[in-house]
Amino acid sequence: MVKVVGVVGSHRRNGATEFLVREALKAAEEEGVEVEMVTLADKKIEFCKVCFDCSPEKEGVCSIRDDDVPEICRKLEEADGIIVGSPVYFGLPTGRLKALMDRTVALRRGGFKLRNKVGGALAVGGHRNGGQETTLTAIHAWMLVHDMLVVSDGKPTSHFGATGVARGREDAEKDGTGLQLARSLGKRVAEAAKQLRRKA
Ligand SMILES: Cc1cc2nc3c(=O)[nH]c(=O)nc-3n(C[C@H](O)[C@H](O)[C@H](O)COP(=O)(O)O)c2cc1C
Repeated sequence: MVKVVGVVGSHRRNGATEFLVREALKAAEEEGVEVEMVTLADKKIEFCKVCFDCSPEKEGVCSIRDDDVPEICRKLEEADGIIVGSPVYFGLPTGRLKALMDRTVALRRGGFKLRNKVGGALAVGGHRNGGQETTLTAIHAWMLVHDMLVVSDGKPTSHFGATGVARGREDAEKDGTGLQLARSLGKRVAEAAKQLRRKA
């Protein structure tokens, strides 16, 4: 079955980002795909040590094996579509999410294991123009460097991904536009992942 994994880059559980990523995944599920949410708030994520052990000419695997990253990477590898959501911190994704992104270098060096997976991005900031789009762009950069296929938030808006304006979960629940965009993104990622699976 086609699978879409949603990654929540927030430092806290039950915040605005988790709420919106869950809504995106619900919409994806309505398209008939399997979904799974991975929240980073409760995960141990060490920084990349730049040891290059993950290079094919060395060990070919990451030297850090006692944190939660190997398991998260397994889930990403299994997915057909990946939705990455982050709060906006100073116009960019959280350091927690970036730490994970850096560790996924092992998937790239190990043979572009995320190639051709569908990617969609979601960003939530406390202000209307607080850096949601720059945060989406940073997430897209990670996806592109993995050779993933980046999609927009789909119909009817089809822009750069889903954006929310919220300081926390309660605001997010009232942010009708953010909710709609999150749902459109989930639908779009699922739709594209199904399409690619059919063509493969
Ligand atoms: C350190 C820090 C930096 C932030 N920087 C921004 C920012 O640049 N722009 C913005 O709109 N909101 C900013 N915010 C607000 C968060 O993006 C907002 O509260 C978001 O909903 C948090 O997501 P969460 O509920 O999933 O934790 C910042 C919050 C923190 C704690």
